[in-house]
Amino acid sequence: MCGIVGVITAEGGVGDVLSKALKRLEYRGYDSVGVATVNENKLYIKKDKGKIDEVNERLNLTDVPGRTGIGHTRWATHGVPSKRNSHPHGDCKNRLAVVHNGIIENYSELKERLTRNGHIFLSDTDTEVIPHLIEEKLNSGLTGFHAVLEAVKELKGSYAIAVLIADHPDKIYVARNESPLVIGVKNKNYVFCASDIPAFLPITNQVIFLYDGEVAELSLEGVVIRNLNGEVVEREVLEVDLTPEMAKKGGFPHFMLKEIFEQPKALKNTLRIDERKLIEVCKILSESNRIVFTSAGTSFYAGLCGKYFLANISRTGSEAVISSEFDEIMKNIIDERTTVVAISQSGETSDTISAAKYAKRFGAKIISISNTVGSSLTRLADATVYTQAGPEIGVAATKTFLVQLGALSLISSKLAEFKGVITRDEYKTLLNDLNTIPEIIQLILDKTEGEVKASTEAYYNSTSILYLGRGISSAVAMEGALKLKEISYIHAEGYAAGESKHGPIALISTGFPVVFVAPMDSTHNKIIGNIMEMKSRGARIISVIEEGDEEIKSISDTVFRVPKTSDNFFKQIVYIVPLQLFAYYIAVRKGLDPDKPRNLAKAVTVA
Ligand code: F6R
Repeated sequence: MCGIVGVITAEGGVGDVLSKALKRLEYRGYDSVGVATVNENKLYIKKDKGKIDEVNERLNLTDVPGRTGIGHTRWATHGVPSKRNSHPHGDCKNRLAVVHNGIIENYSELKERLTRNGHIFLSDTDTEVIPHLIEEKLNSGLTGFHAVLEAVKELKGSYAIAVLIADHPDKIYVARNESPLVIGVKNKNYVFCASDIPAFLPITNQVIFLYDGEVAELSLEGVVIRNLNGEVVEREVLEVDLTPEMAKKGGFPHFMLKEIFEQPKALKNTLRIDERKLIEVCKILSESNRIVFTSAGTSFYAGLCGKYFLANISRTGSEAVISSEFDEIMKNIIDERTTVVAISQSGETSDTISAAKYAKRFGAKIISISNTVGSSLTRLADATVYTQAGPEIGVAATKTFLVQLGALSLISSKLAEFKGVITRDEYKTLLNDLNTIPEIIQLILDKTEGEVKASTEAYYNSTSILYLGRGISSAVAMEGALKLKEISYIHAEGYAAGESKHGPIALISTGFPVVFVAPMDSTHNKIIGNIMEMKSRGARIISVIEEGDEEIKSISDTVFRVPKTSDNFFKQIVYIVPLQLFAYYIAVRKGLDPDKPRNLAKAVTVA
């Protein structure tokens, strides 16, 4: 997730407008920043690694000539944060500049073809294929608008782009597919494009929404939108009634809720992980005789899920070890045939980095799964799989947990094929199942949110809540409990349901709430037994069930329903979503700020 912006201004000071707009988009990414302007048919580009204020101090981003410019604040996806990977990116002859938010899936093939045609690439980004593609179209005689239109037809994946062409100093070309882009207009004085409305909200609240598969030409004279067939599309200008703070949160009251709602998109992007990367990782895994997941907090629960995925999908044994306990547990058993899978959204968690370094000293291989390109953990890993959730601002991890499960599902499926446990066709079936998960999550967000919100009235003043599940759902239950305790300050424990009768059941008295994660899988009958054990001792039962599961519904006080997913191999993944919403709405009902829980930091960089 990056922030892009473009502006044409009749009033001058384009650098100042761009810098301020970028600052307002900084929540979308902040590892590097850049601007490009055009003046008298010449392009000017300033960019570097670092936060906007730091780069501004070094390069004075406001000091750029012209009336037309584009800018970018980056959250790295392809290529580490560095000057050469910062946007804008250009063509071979400095005739155009492009900023991009999204992921170009077919960039390897495009880059190969363009390189064969003599194009020189200066970065490791997927984005850089776009200016070179447009350059080819310009060379073939197409004009600015049509060159951009024909170039985007060749792109696969997600993109919102803004393009500046030196020969057209009064125009910006934009296009979008599956990444956000809005246009802002103010009389004939300003026209903007941006990833998000807050970028230009202090100047105008008159917006035009661009849809997927559309390309537009912006100028002070007006905005012309076309579809990919080149047909003009009429679109009205709307007035939005948002404060800058609300706009930054996409209209949601908190970042946490916004991030819960971003999960379908984040997962979809993560499922685009290049197959070659998966093969690289599977090669390492298949050559090791011990696989250990290590991580902390939410990422530890992802590691627990990973253990189930590896066993169930690729018939591979593994362990999950909390990273702060890693050396004490592993000290006599780690060697060069051990592979440590270190999971960390930030890639900066001290305990996880220490565990990986410790393992490396004994010759173990390190695979990292991280949401942060170039982070400390990824720098010491032998191979990294990047999740694609974009920056997570809410302190409680939500979308980054879900994408970790997505990455682990992909790796386990690929490993199963790699080891010959399943055929290519079976692998494809698993991928199809996985690719439907984002839609299922969308349905939960659309349909289940209301019943979760309504339920909180009955539970917000509880002092303790137990979360139970069996199989992989035990790890989901633990993550659900962690969410509740960290943002609502209600004591909560997640347990394997079978284990509950070996101790936790002593807590149960009349009215004690127990949450059951109860998908329709091989654990279904046994979980009914566990529900009955709790119910007969007076517990109030909250069950997360599949729609139509009348049996569990009839023995529960409250149910959160997820759509029918019986045939989907990865169905358990989605059960975390109602639990995230439950924690969120309980915190809100208690008048707490879920984005900033007390005593917690987003990245724990101390041991
Ligand atoms: C929970 C949470 C923390 C982190 C933990 C690990 O909501 O945010 O428990 O999961 O500190 O962080 P990463 O994944 O960055 O290593």
